[in-house]
Amino acid sequence: MGIETASQQVQQWRGAFPLLNQLVNGQPLVYLDNAATTQKPQVVIDRLQRYYAHDNANIHRGVHALSQRATEDYEAAREVVARFLGGVESRQCVFVRGATEAVNLVAQCYLRPKLGEGDVILLTGMEHHANIVPWQLVAEERGARIEVLPVTPEGELDLEALPRMLRDLPVKLMAFVHTSNSLGTINPSAEIIALCREAGVPVLLDAAQAAPHQRLDVPALDPDFLVFSGHKTYGPTGIGVLYAKWQHLSQMPPYQGGGDMILKVSFEQTRFKEPPERFEAGTPHIAGAIGLATALEYFMELDQEALLAHEAAMRQRAEAGLGEIEGLRIIGQAPRKASVVSFVVDDVHPHDIGTFLDQDGIAIRAGHHCTQPLMKHLGLPGTARASFAFYNTMEEVDALVRGVQRIVKFFR
Ligand SMILES: Cc1ncc(COP(=O)(O)O)c(C=O)c1O
Repeated sequence: MGIETASQQVQQWRGAFPLLNQLVNGQPLVYLDNAATTQKPQVVIDRLQRYYAHDNANIHRGVHALSQRATEDYEAAREVVARFLGGVESRQCVFVRGATEAVNLVAQCYLRPKLGEGDVILLTGMEHHANIVPWQLVAEERGARIEVLPVTPEGELDLEALPRMLRDLPVKLMAFVHTSNSLGTINPSAEIIALCREAGVPVLLDAAQAAPHQRLDVPALDPDFLVFSGHKTYGPTGIGVLYAKWQHLSQMPPYQGGGDMILKVSFEQTRFKEPPERFEAGTPHIAGAIGLATALEYFMELDQEALLAHEAAMRQRAEAGLGEIEGLRIIGQAPRKASVVSFVVDDVHPHDIGTFLDQDGIAIRAGHHCTQPLMKHLGLPGTARASFAFYNTMEEVDALVRGVQRIVKFFR
């Protein structure tokens, strides 16, 4: 695609996101905090509005037309999720609040009953707190421990250590991130999962940062569990997905009790429904699930190759531009990276970078990005992080570089 057509394409994508068209601090908004949350296309906003204006009813229980319509839309949303995940079965997809709740669900319902004294949960040095703390909670309770696959100075996983760890430690589950939110590293997940499979170790894949950038081929990756969040994938907040192999899901006890997840209740005994309903106690986020399906459908229709090429080009341009600034260091140099650029500047705190850029209307994130163990390992208090989505432009990348140049000049 030529440059002219490429930027026309981006303008067309961008036009679908109304929030982007505004001034912040008197400057056109440059939204580069997409790893924290993504913006929503108009079709998603319209779908939520239509749901509440026309279809709102509680699901699964009503005989009236609205309830049936809402139920159909909610279950159809599950089918869309199953398609987005590469053609898994919809009954393997549980609606939850987000990636965090999905990890907690697996920790409590799958792992906790299997975990004993001295057992190991294997994580990596680049995990988000959402993929650390839920495991710690069950490990502490059961006398198990966490072991960590190390991260290299370039920000890659030390894969050489993995076969030995899987062989020598009593690993009951490995949980790791597909794409690092702090470094942008895209891990060789298929390879890691295959090694775990050989060792008979079940795997949870945290796809919170991978889902917004590509369709996920779950049958090819073959994890036991996979989690992602709707709000990072152009959908609403408060909705996310747990995918699980049926052999696990069907054996797991419920996470929470309440309405909608039961077959029969008496004061003596309760019988639960099959998954996924078993794990969706109470009235779920119906609008959220429907909105998420609209977001995924929208995303799946985009030219995936063009989108990835554009995101890669923005990252490379940002790295090249920022890399020329004296005293600036890009954190995370893995050869395979998503459109995330973390950086630190000598003598300038990341929070100052974030605050000064905000005055130019540029939104980035500064801090530990919920990866405190990784920051400690790298010897950093935090980083400044720009994260790009397909609706960002090369001009916005240049605005970021100019903004950081100005800040560095100011502090020197
Ligand atoms: C890699 C990763 N995993 C998990 C999460 C948790 O997602 P949520 O807060 O939507 O549950 C995040 C959020 O930043 C993330 O980046």
